[in-house]
Amino acid sequence: MRQPLIAGNWKMNGSRTDNRVLLDGIKAGIGDVKSAEVAVCVPFVYLADVQLQLEGTPVAWGAQNLSTEAKGAFTGEISAAMLLDFGCKYVIVGHSERRSLYGEDDQLVAGKFEVARQAGLRPILCIGETLEEREQGITEQVVARQIDAVIQHAGVAALADGVIAYEPVWAIGTGKTASPEQAQEVHAFIRGQVAKHDAGVADGLRIQYGGSMNAANAAELLAKPDIDGGLIGGASLKAEDFLTICKAAG
Ligand code: G3H
Repeated sequence: MRQPLIAGNWKMNGSRTDNRVLLDGIKAGIGDVKSAEVAVCVPFVYLADVQLQLEGTPVAWGAQNLSTEAKGAFTGEISAAMLLDFGCKYVIVGHSERRSLYGEDDQLVAGKFEVARQAGLRPILCIGETLEEREQGITEQVVARQIDAVIQHAGVAALADGVIAYEPVWAIGTGKTASPEQAQEVHAFIRGQVAKHDAGVADGLRIQYGGSMNAANAAELLAKPDIDGGLIGGASLKAEDFLTICKAAG
């Protein structure tokens, strides 16, 4: 059985005061979450605060990006070792916003996945098609290419140390969620794609859904057999909504 993972991706939101209120709310309700693992991926500058507030609780934390470099003259970058220094368990790699707004390609994302994994972090690899790609009928080709880049770079066994988040780009922040059937279809394809290389890794791999998942639609999505949790943007910024999603996962 795969343990569902509900991870909040705060993106570039929050303040020290707002974060405290949000985390206090999550901590107050986390006892009602029975089986899901819960994490928050926060802006770098808040990691120290978040570590202080979450250490010793069942809620894990992580970052939203990292550098492929270990150290040195890379102004503005953050290394895997730095994230570990602040107790991070997870790091998101290849979010569609990084791919589309900051030019991250499959090779760079694969490099980030492997650097994170080698350091002992659990990378959350985001993949997903744009609306144009879905309309062209190439969703499967796109996600296969994005997964294969990681398998070619790091080997299929590397996926066992990470998580995949399937996020159709057209569903992110738009309020347009993929239907549970649409999402399940792609999740099953992703698992099948990994299974071509290693059935055991595919079977154990957690594949989250992301894209306008919220308190109202989470249960239906999470009931699908290949949906093992969610990567939650907007709805992770309110403790009540986030906890409702966590509870829907079990
Ligand atoms: O990483 C999270 C996703 O981009 C989903 O964001 O829930 O605001 O649509 P959203």
